[in-house]
Amino acid sequence: MDKIRIHGPCRLQGRVRASGAKNAVLPEMAATLLVDGPVTLRNVPVVRDVQTMIKVLRHLGARRVSLDGDVLRVEGGAAGEPEAPYDLVRTMRASILVLGPLLARLGRARVSLPGGCAIGARPIDYHIEALRRMGAAIEIEHGFVVASSPRLKGAEIVFAERTVTGTENVMMAAVLAEGRTVLKNCALEPEVTDLARFLNACGARIEGAGTGRIVIEGVERLRGTEHRVIPDRIEAGTFLIAAAATQSAVTVERCDPTHLETVLDKLQECGVVLRVDGDAIGVGKDGPLRGVNVTTRPYPDFPTDLQAQFMALMTRAEGVSIITETVFENRFLHVGELRRMGARIVVDGQTAIVAGPAPLSGAPVMASDLRASACLIVAGLSAEGETVINRAYHIDRGYEKVETKFQTLGARIERIGG
Ligand code: EPU
Repeated sequence: MDKIRIHGPCRLQGRVRASGAKNAVLPEMAATLLVDGPVTLRNVPVVRDVQTMIKVLRHLGARRVSLDGDVLRVEGGAAGEPEAPYDLVRTMRASILVLGPLLARLGRARVSLPGGCAIGARPIDYHIEALRRMGAAIEIEHGFVVASSPRLKGAEIVFAERTVTGTENVMMAAVLAEGRTVLKNCALEPEVTDLARFLNACGARIEGAGTGRIVIEGVERLRGTEHRVIPDRIEAGTFLIAAAATQSAVTVERCDPTHLETVLDKLQECGVVLRVDGDAIGVGKDGPLRGVNVTTRPYPDFPTDLQAQFMALMTRAEGVSIITETVFENRFLHVGELRRMGARIVVDGQTAIVAGPAPLSGAPVMASDLRASACLIVAGLSAEGETVINRAYHIDRGYEKVETKFQTLGARIERIGG
C-alpha cells in the first residue's frame, strides 16, 4: 500500500497550477447520462474519483468514455441496466449523483445506498424526499435506493438544509421533468453553478444557480456540448495553506480567487501576505502567524474541505485558535495524528482548540480521509524530520499528482511502496 514520505521542514518556492475541480466534474459526468450526443469536458483532474465515475458511467452503458490528458469525452448517455452497484458506490459516495439523471432519463434507478463514512453519517434523505415530490416512487431495498417514475413532474421543493450533491441531483432530475421546478434553500457552491452552466450549454433551462432559489423549466432533451470545468478551489487553498505553513513564496496559478474569498480573508487575518493577480494568487514569505478562529459552514463561508489543512497551519501560529466544524459531525480524525506530531489540540464536541506555536516533529501517521491526508502533508512539510503518511490512497481520490506538484515547488516528498 502506497505511503507518502516527507523530509521536513521544507521551504517551498515557485509556481503551481490548480487542476479542475473534482466536485464539479463528478456531477457533470453524472449529468452526461441525461445527454444525447457527445460531451467533451476540459480541465478534468486525473484523480481516482474521476476514474471511479468513469467506471460507473461504463457500467451504466455509456458507449464511449475516454480520458486523454485533461480532456474527457463521453458518448452514449444511459443505456444499460440503471444500477450503480455497491462495489462502486462504496468507494465513492458521489456515485449517488447518478440517481437523479437515471430516474429522469430512464424512469428507473437502482443505486446502492452510500453508507456512513469516516467524516460522518451523511444521509441522503433530502435527495430522496425531493425526488418523491417530483413523483418518483422510492424504496430502500436490500441496501439499494430503488426508484421509479413515469416522466418526473416539476415541483416546488424546499431543502431542509443546504446540501451540495442534493441540490445537484435534484437539479439534474428537473431538467428533463415536465414543467417547472423551483428549488429553495439551495447550496450556493461554485460547483453547483458550474453544473448549471454545463447543463444550460446542453440546452437545459436553469436560472438562479449560485443563489438559494433555482428555477428549472423542463425540456424534452439535452444535446452534447463542450465545457471547461472550473478550477479546484480546495486544491488551490491547500497549496496556499501549505505555503503559509512553511513560510514560503508560492504562486498558485489558474485558480479562481473569487471562489476563495473567505479563505483568503482568514489567511490575511493570520498575517499571511497575499497577492491576487487575475487567476493567480501569490503567498509571500513573512513574519510570525497569528492564531485565528474559523467556523466551517456552506459556501460562501469557510469550507469544511479546508478545515483539516487550516488546523495544521494553526499549529504553527502564535496564540489560540478555535476551529468549529458545523458541516460534518466527525471531521476531526486528523487531530490525533497532528497530536502525535507534537501539536497541542483539545477537542470539545465540534470545536477544536489549537494552542500554538507547537514545534512539529515528523512521525509515522495515518490518513483517515481525503482532506485529512492533505492536512498531514501540510504538517509534514513544516515538521522537523521524516513524516510517513500511511494510507496515502485517500489523497489520490481528489488531488492530482500531489507529490509531483509539491516536488516542483522544491518539497522533499515522495511516494514509497510497501
Ligand atoms: N445531509 C443530510 N441529508 C441529506 C444530505 C445532506 O442530512 O440528504 C447533511 C450531511 O450529512 C451534512 C450536511 O447535510 O451534514 C451537508 O452535506 P452535503 O450534502 O452538502 O455534502 P455532500 O453533497 O455529500 C459535498 C462534497 C463534499 C463536501 C460537502 C460540503 C461532493 C462530491 N462532495 O458533499 O466533499 O465536504 O459537499 O461542502 O461534492 C471532499 O471533497 O472531500 C468532500 C467530502
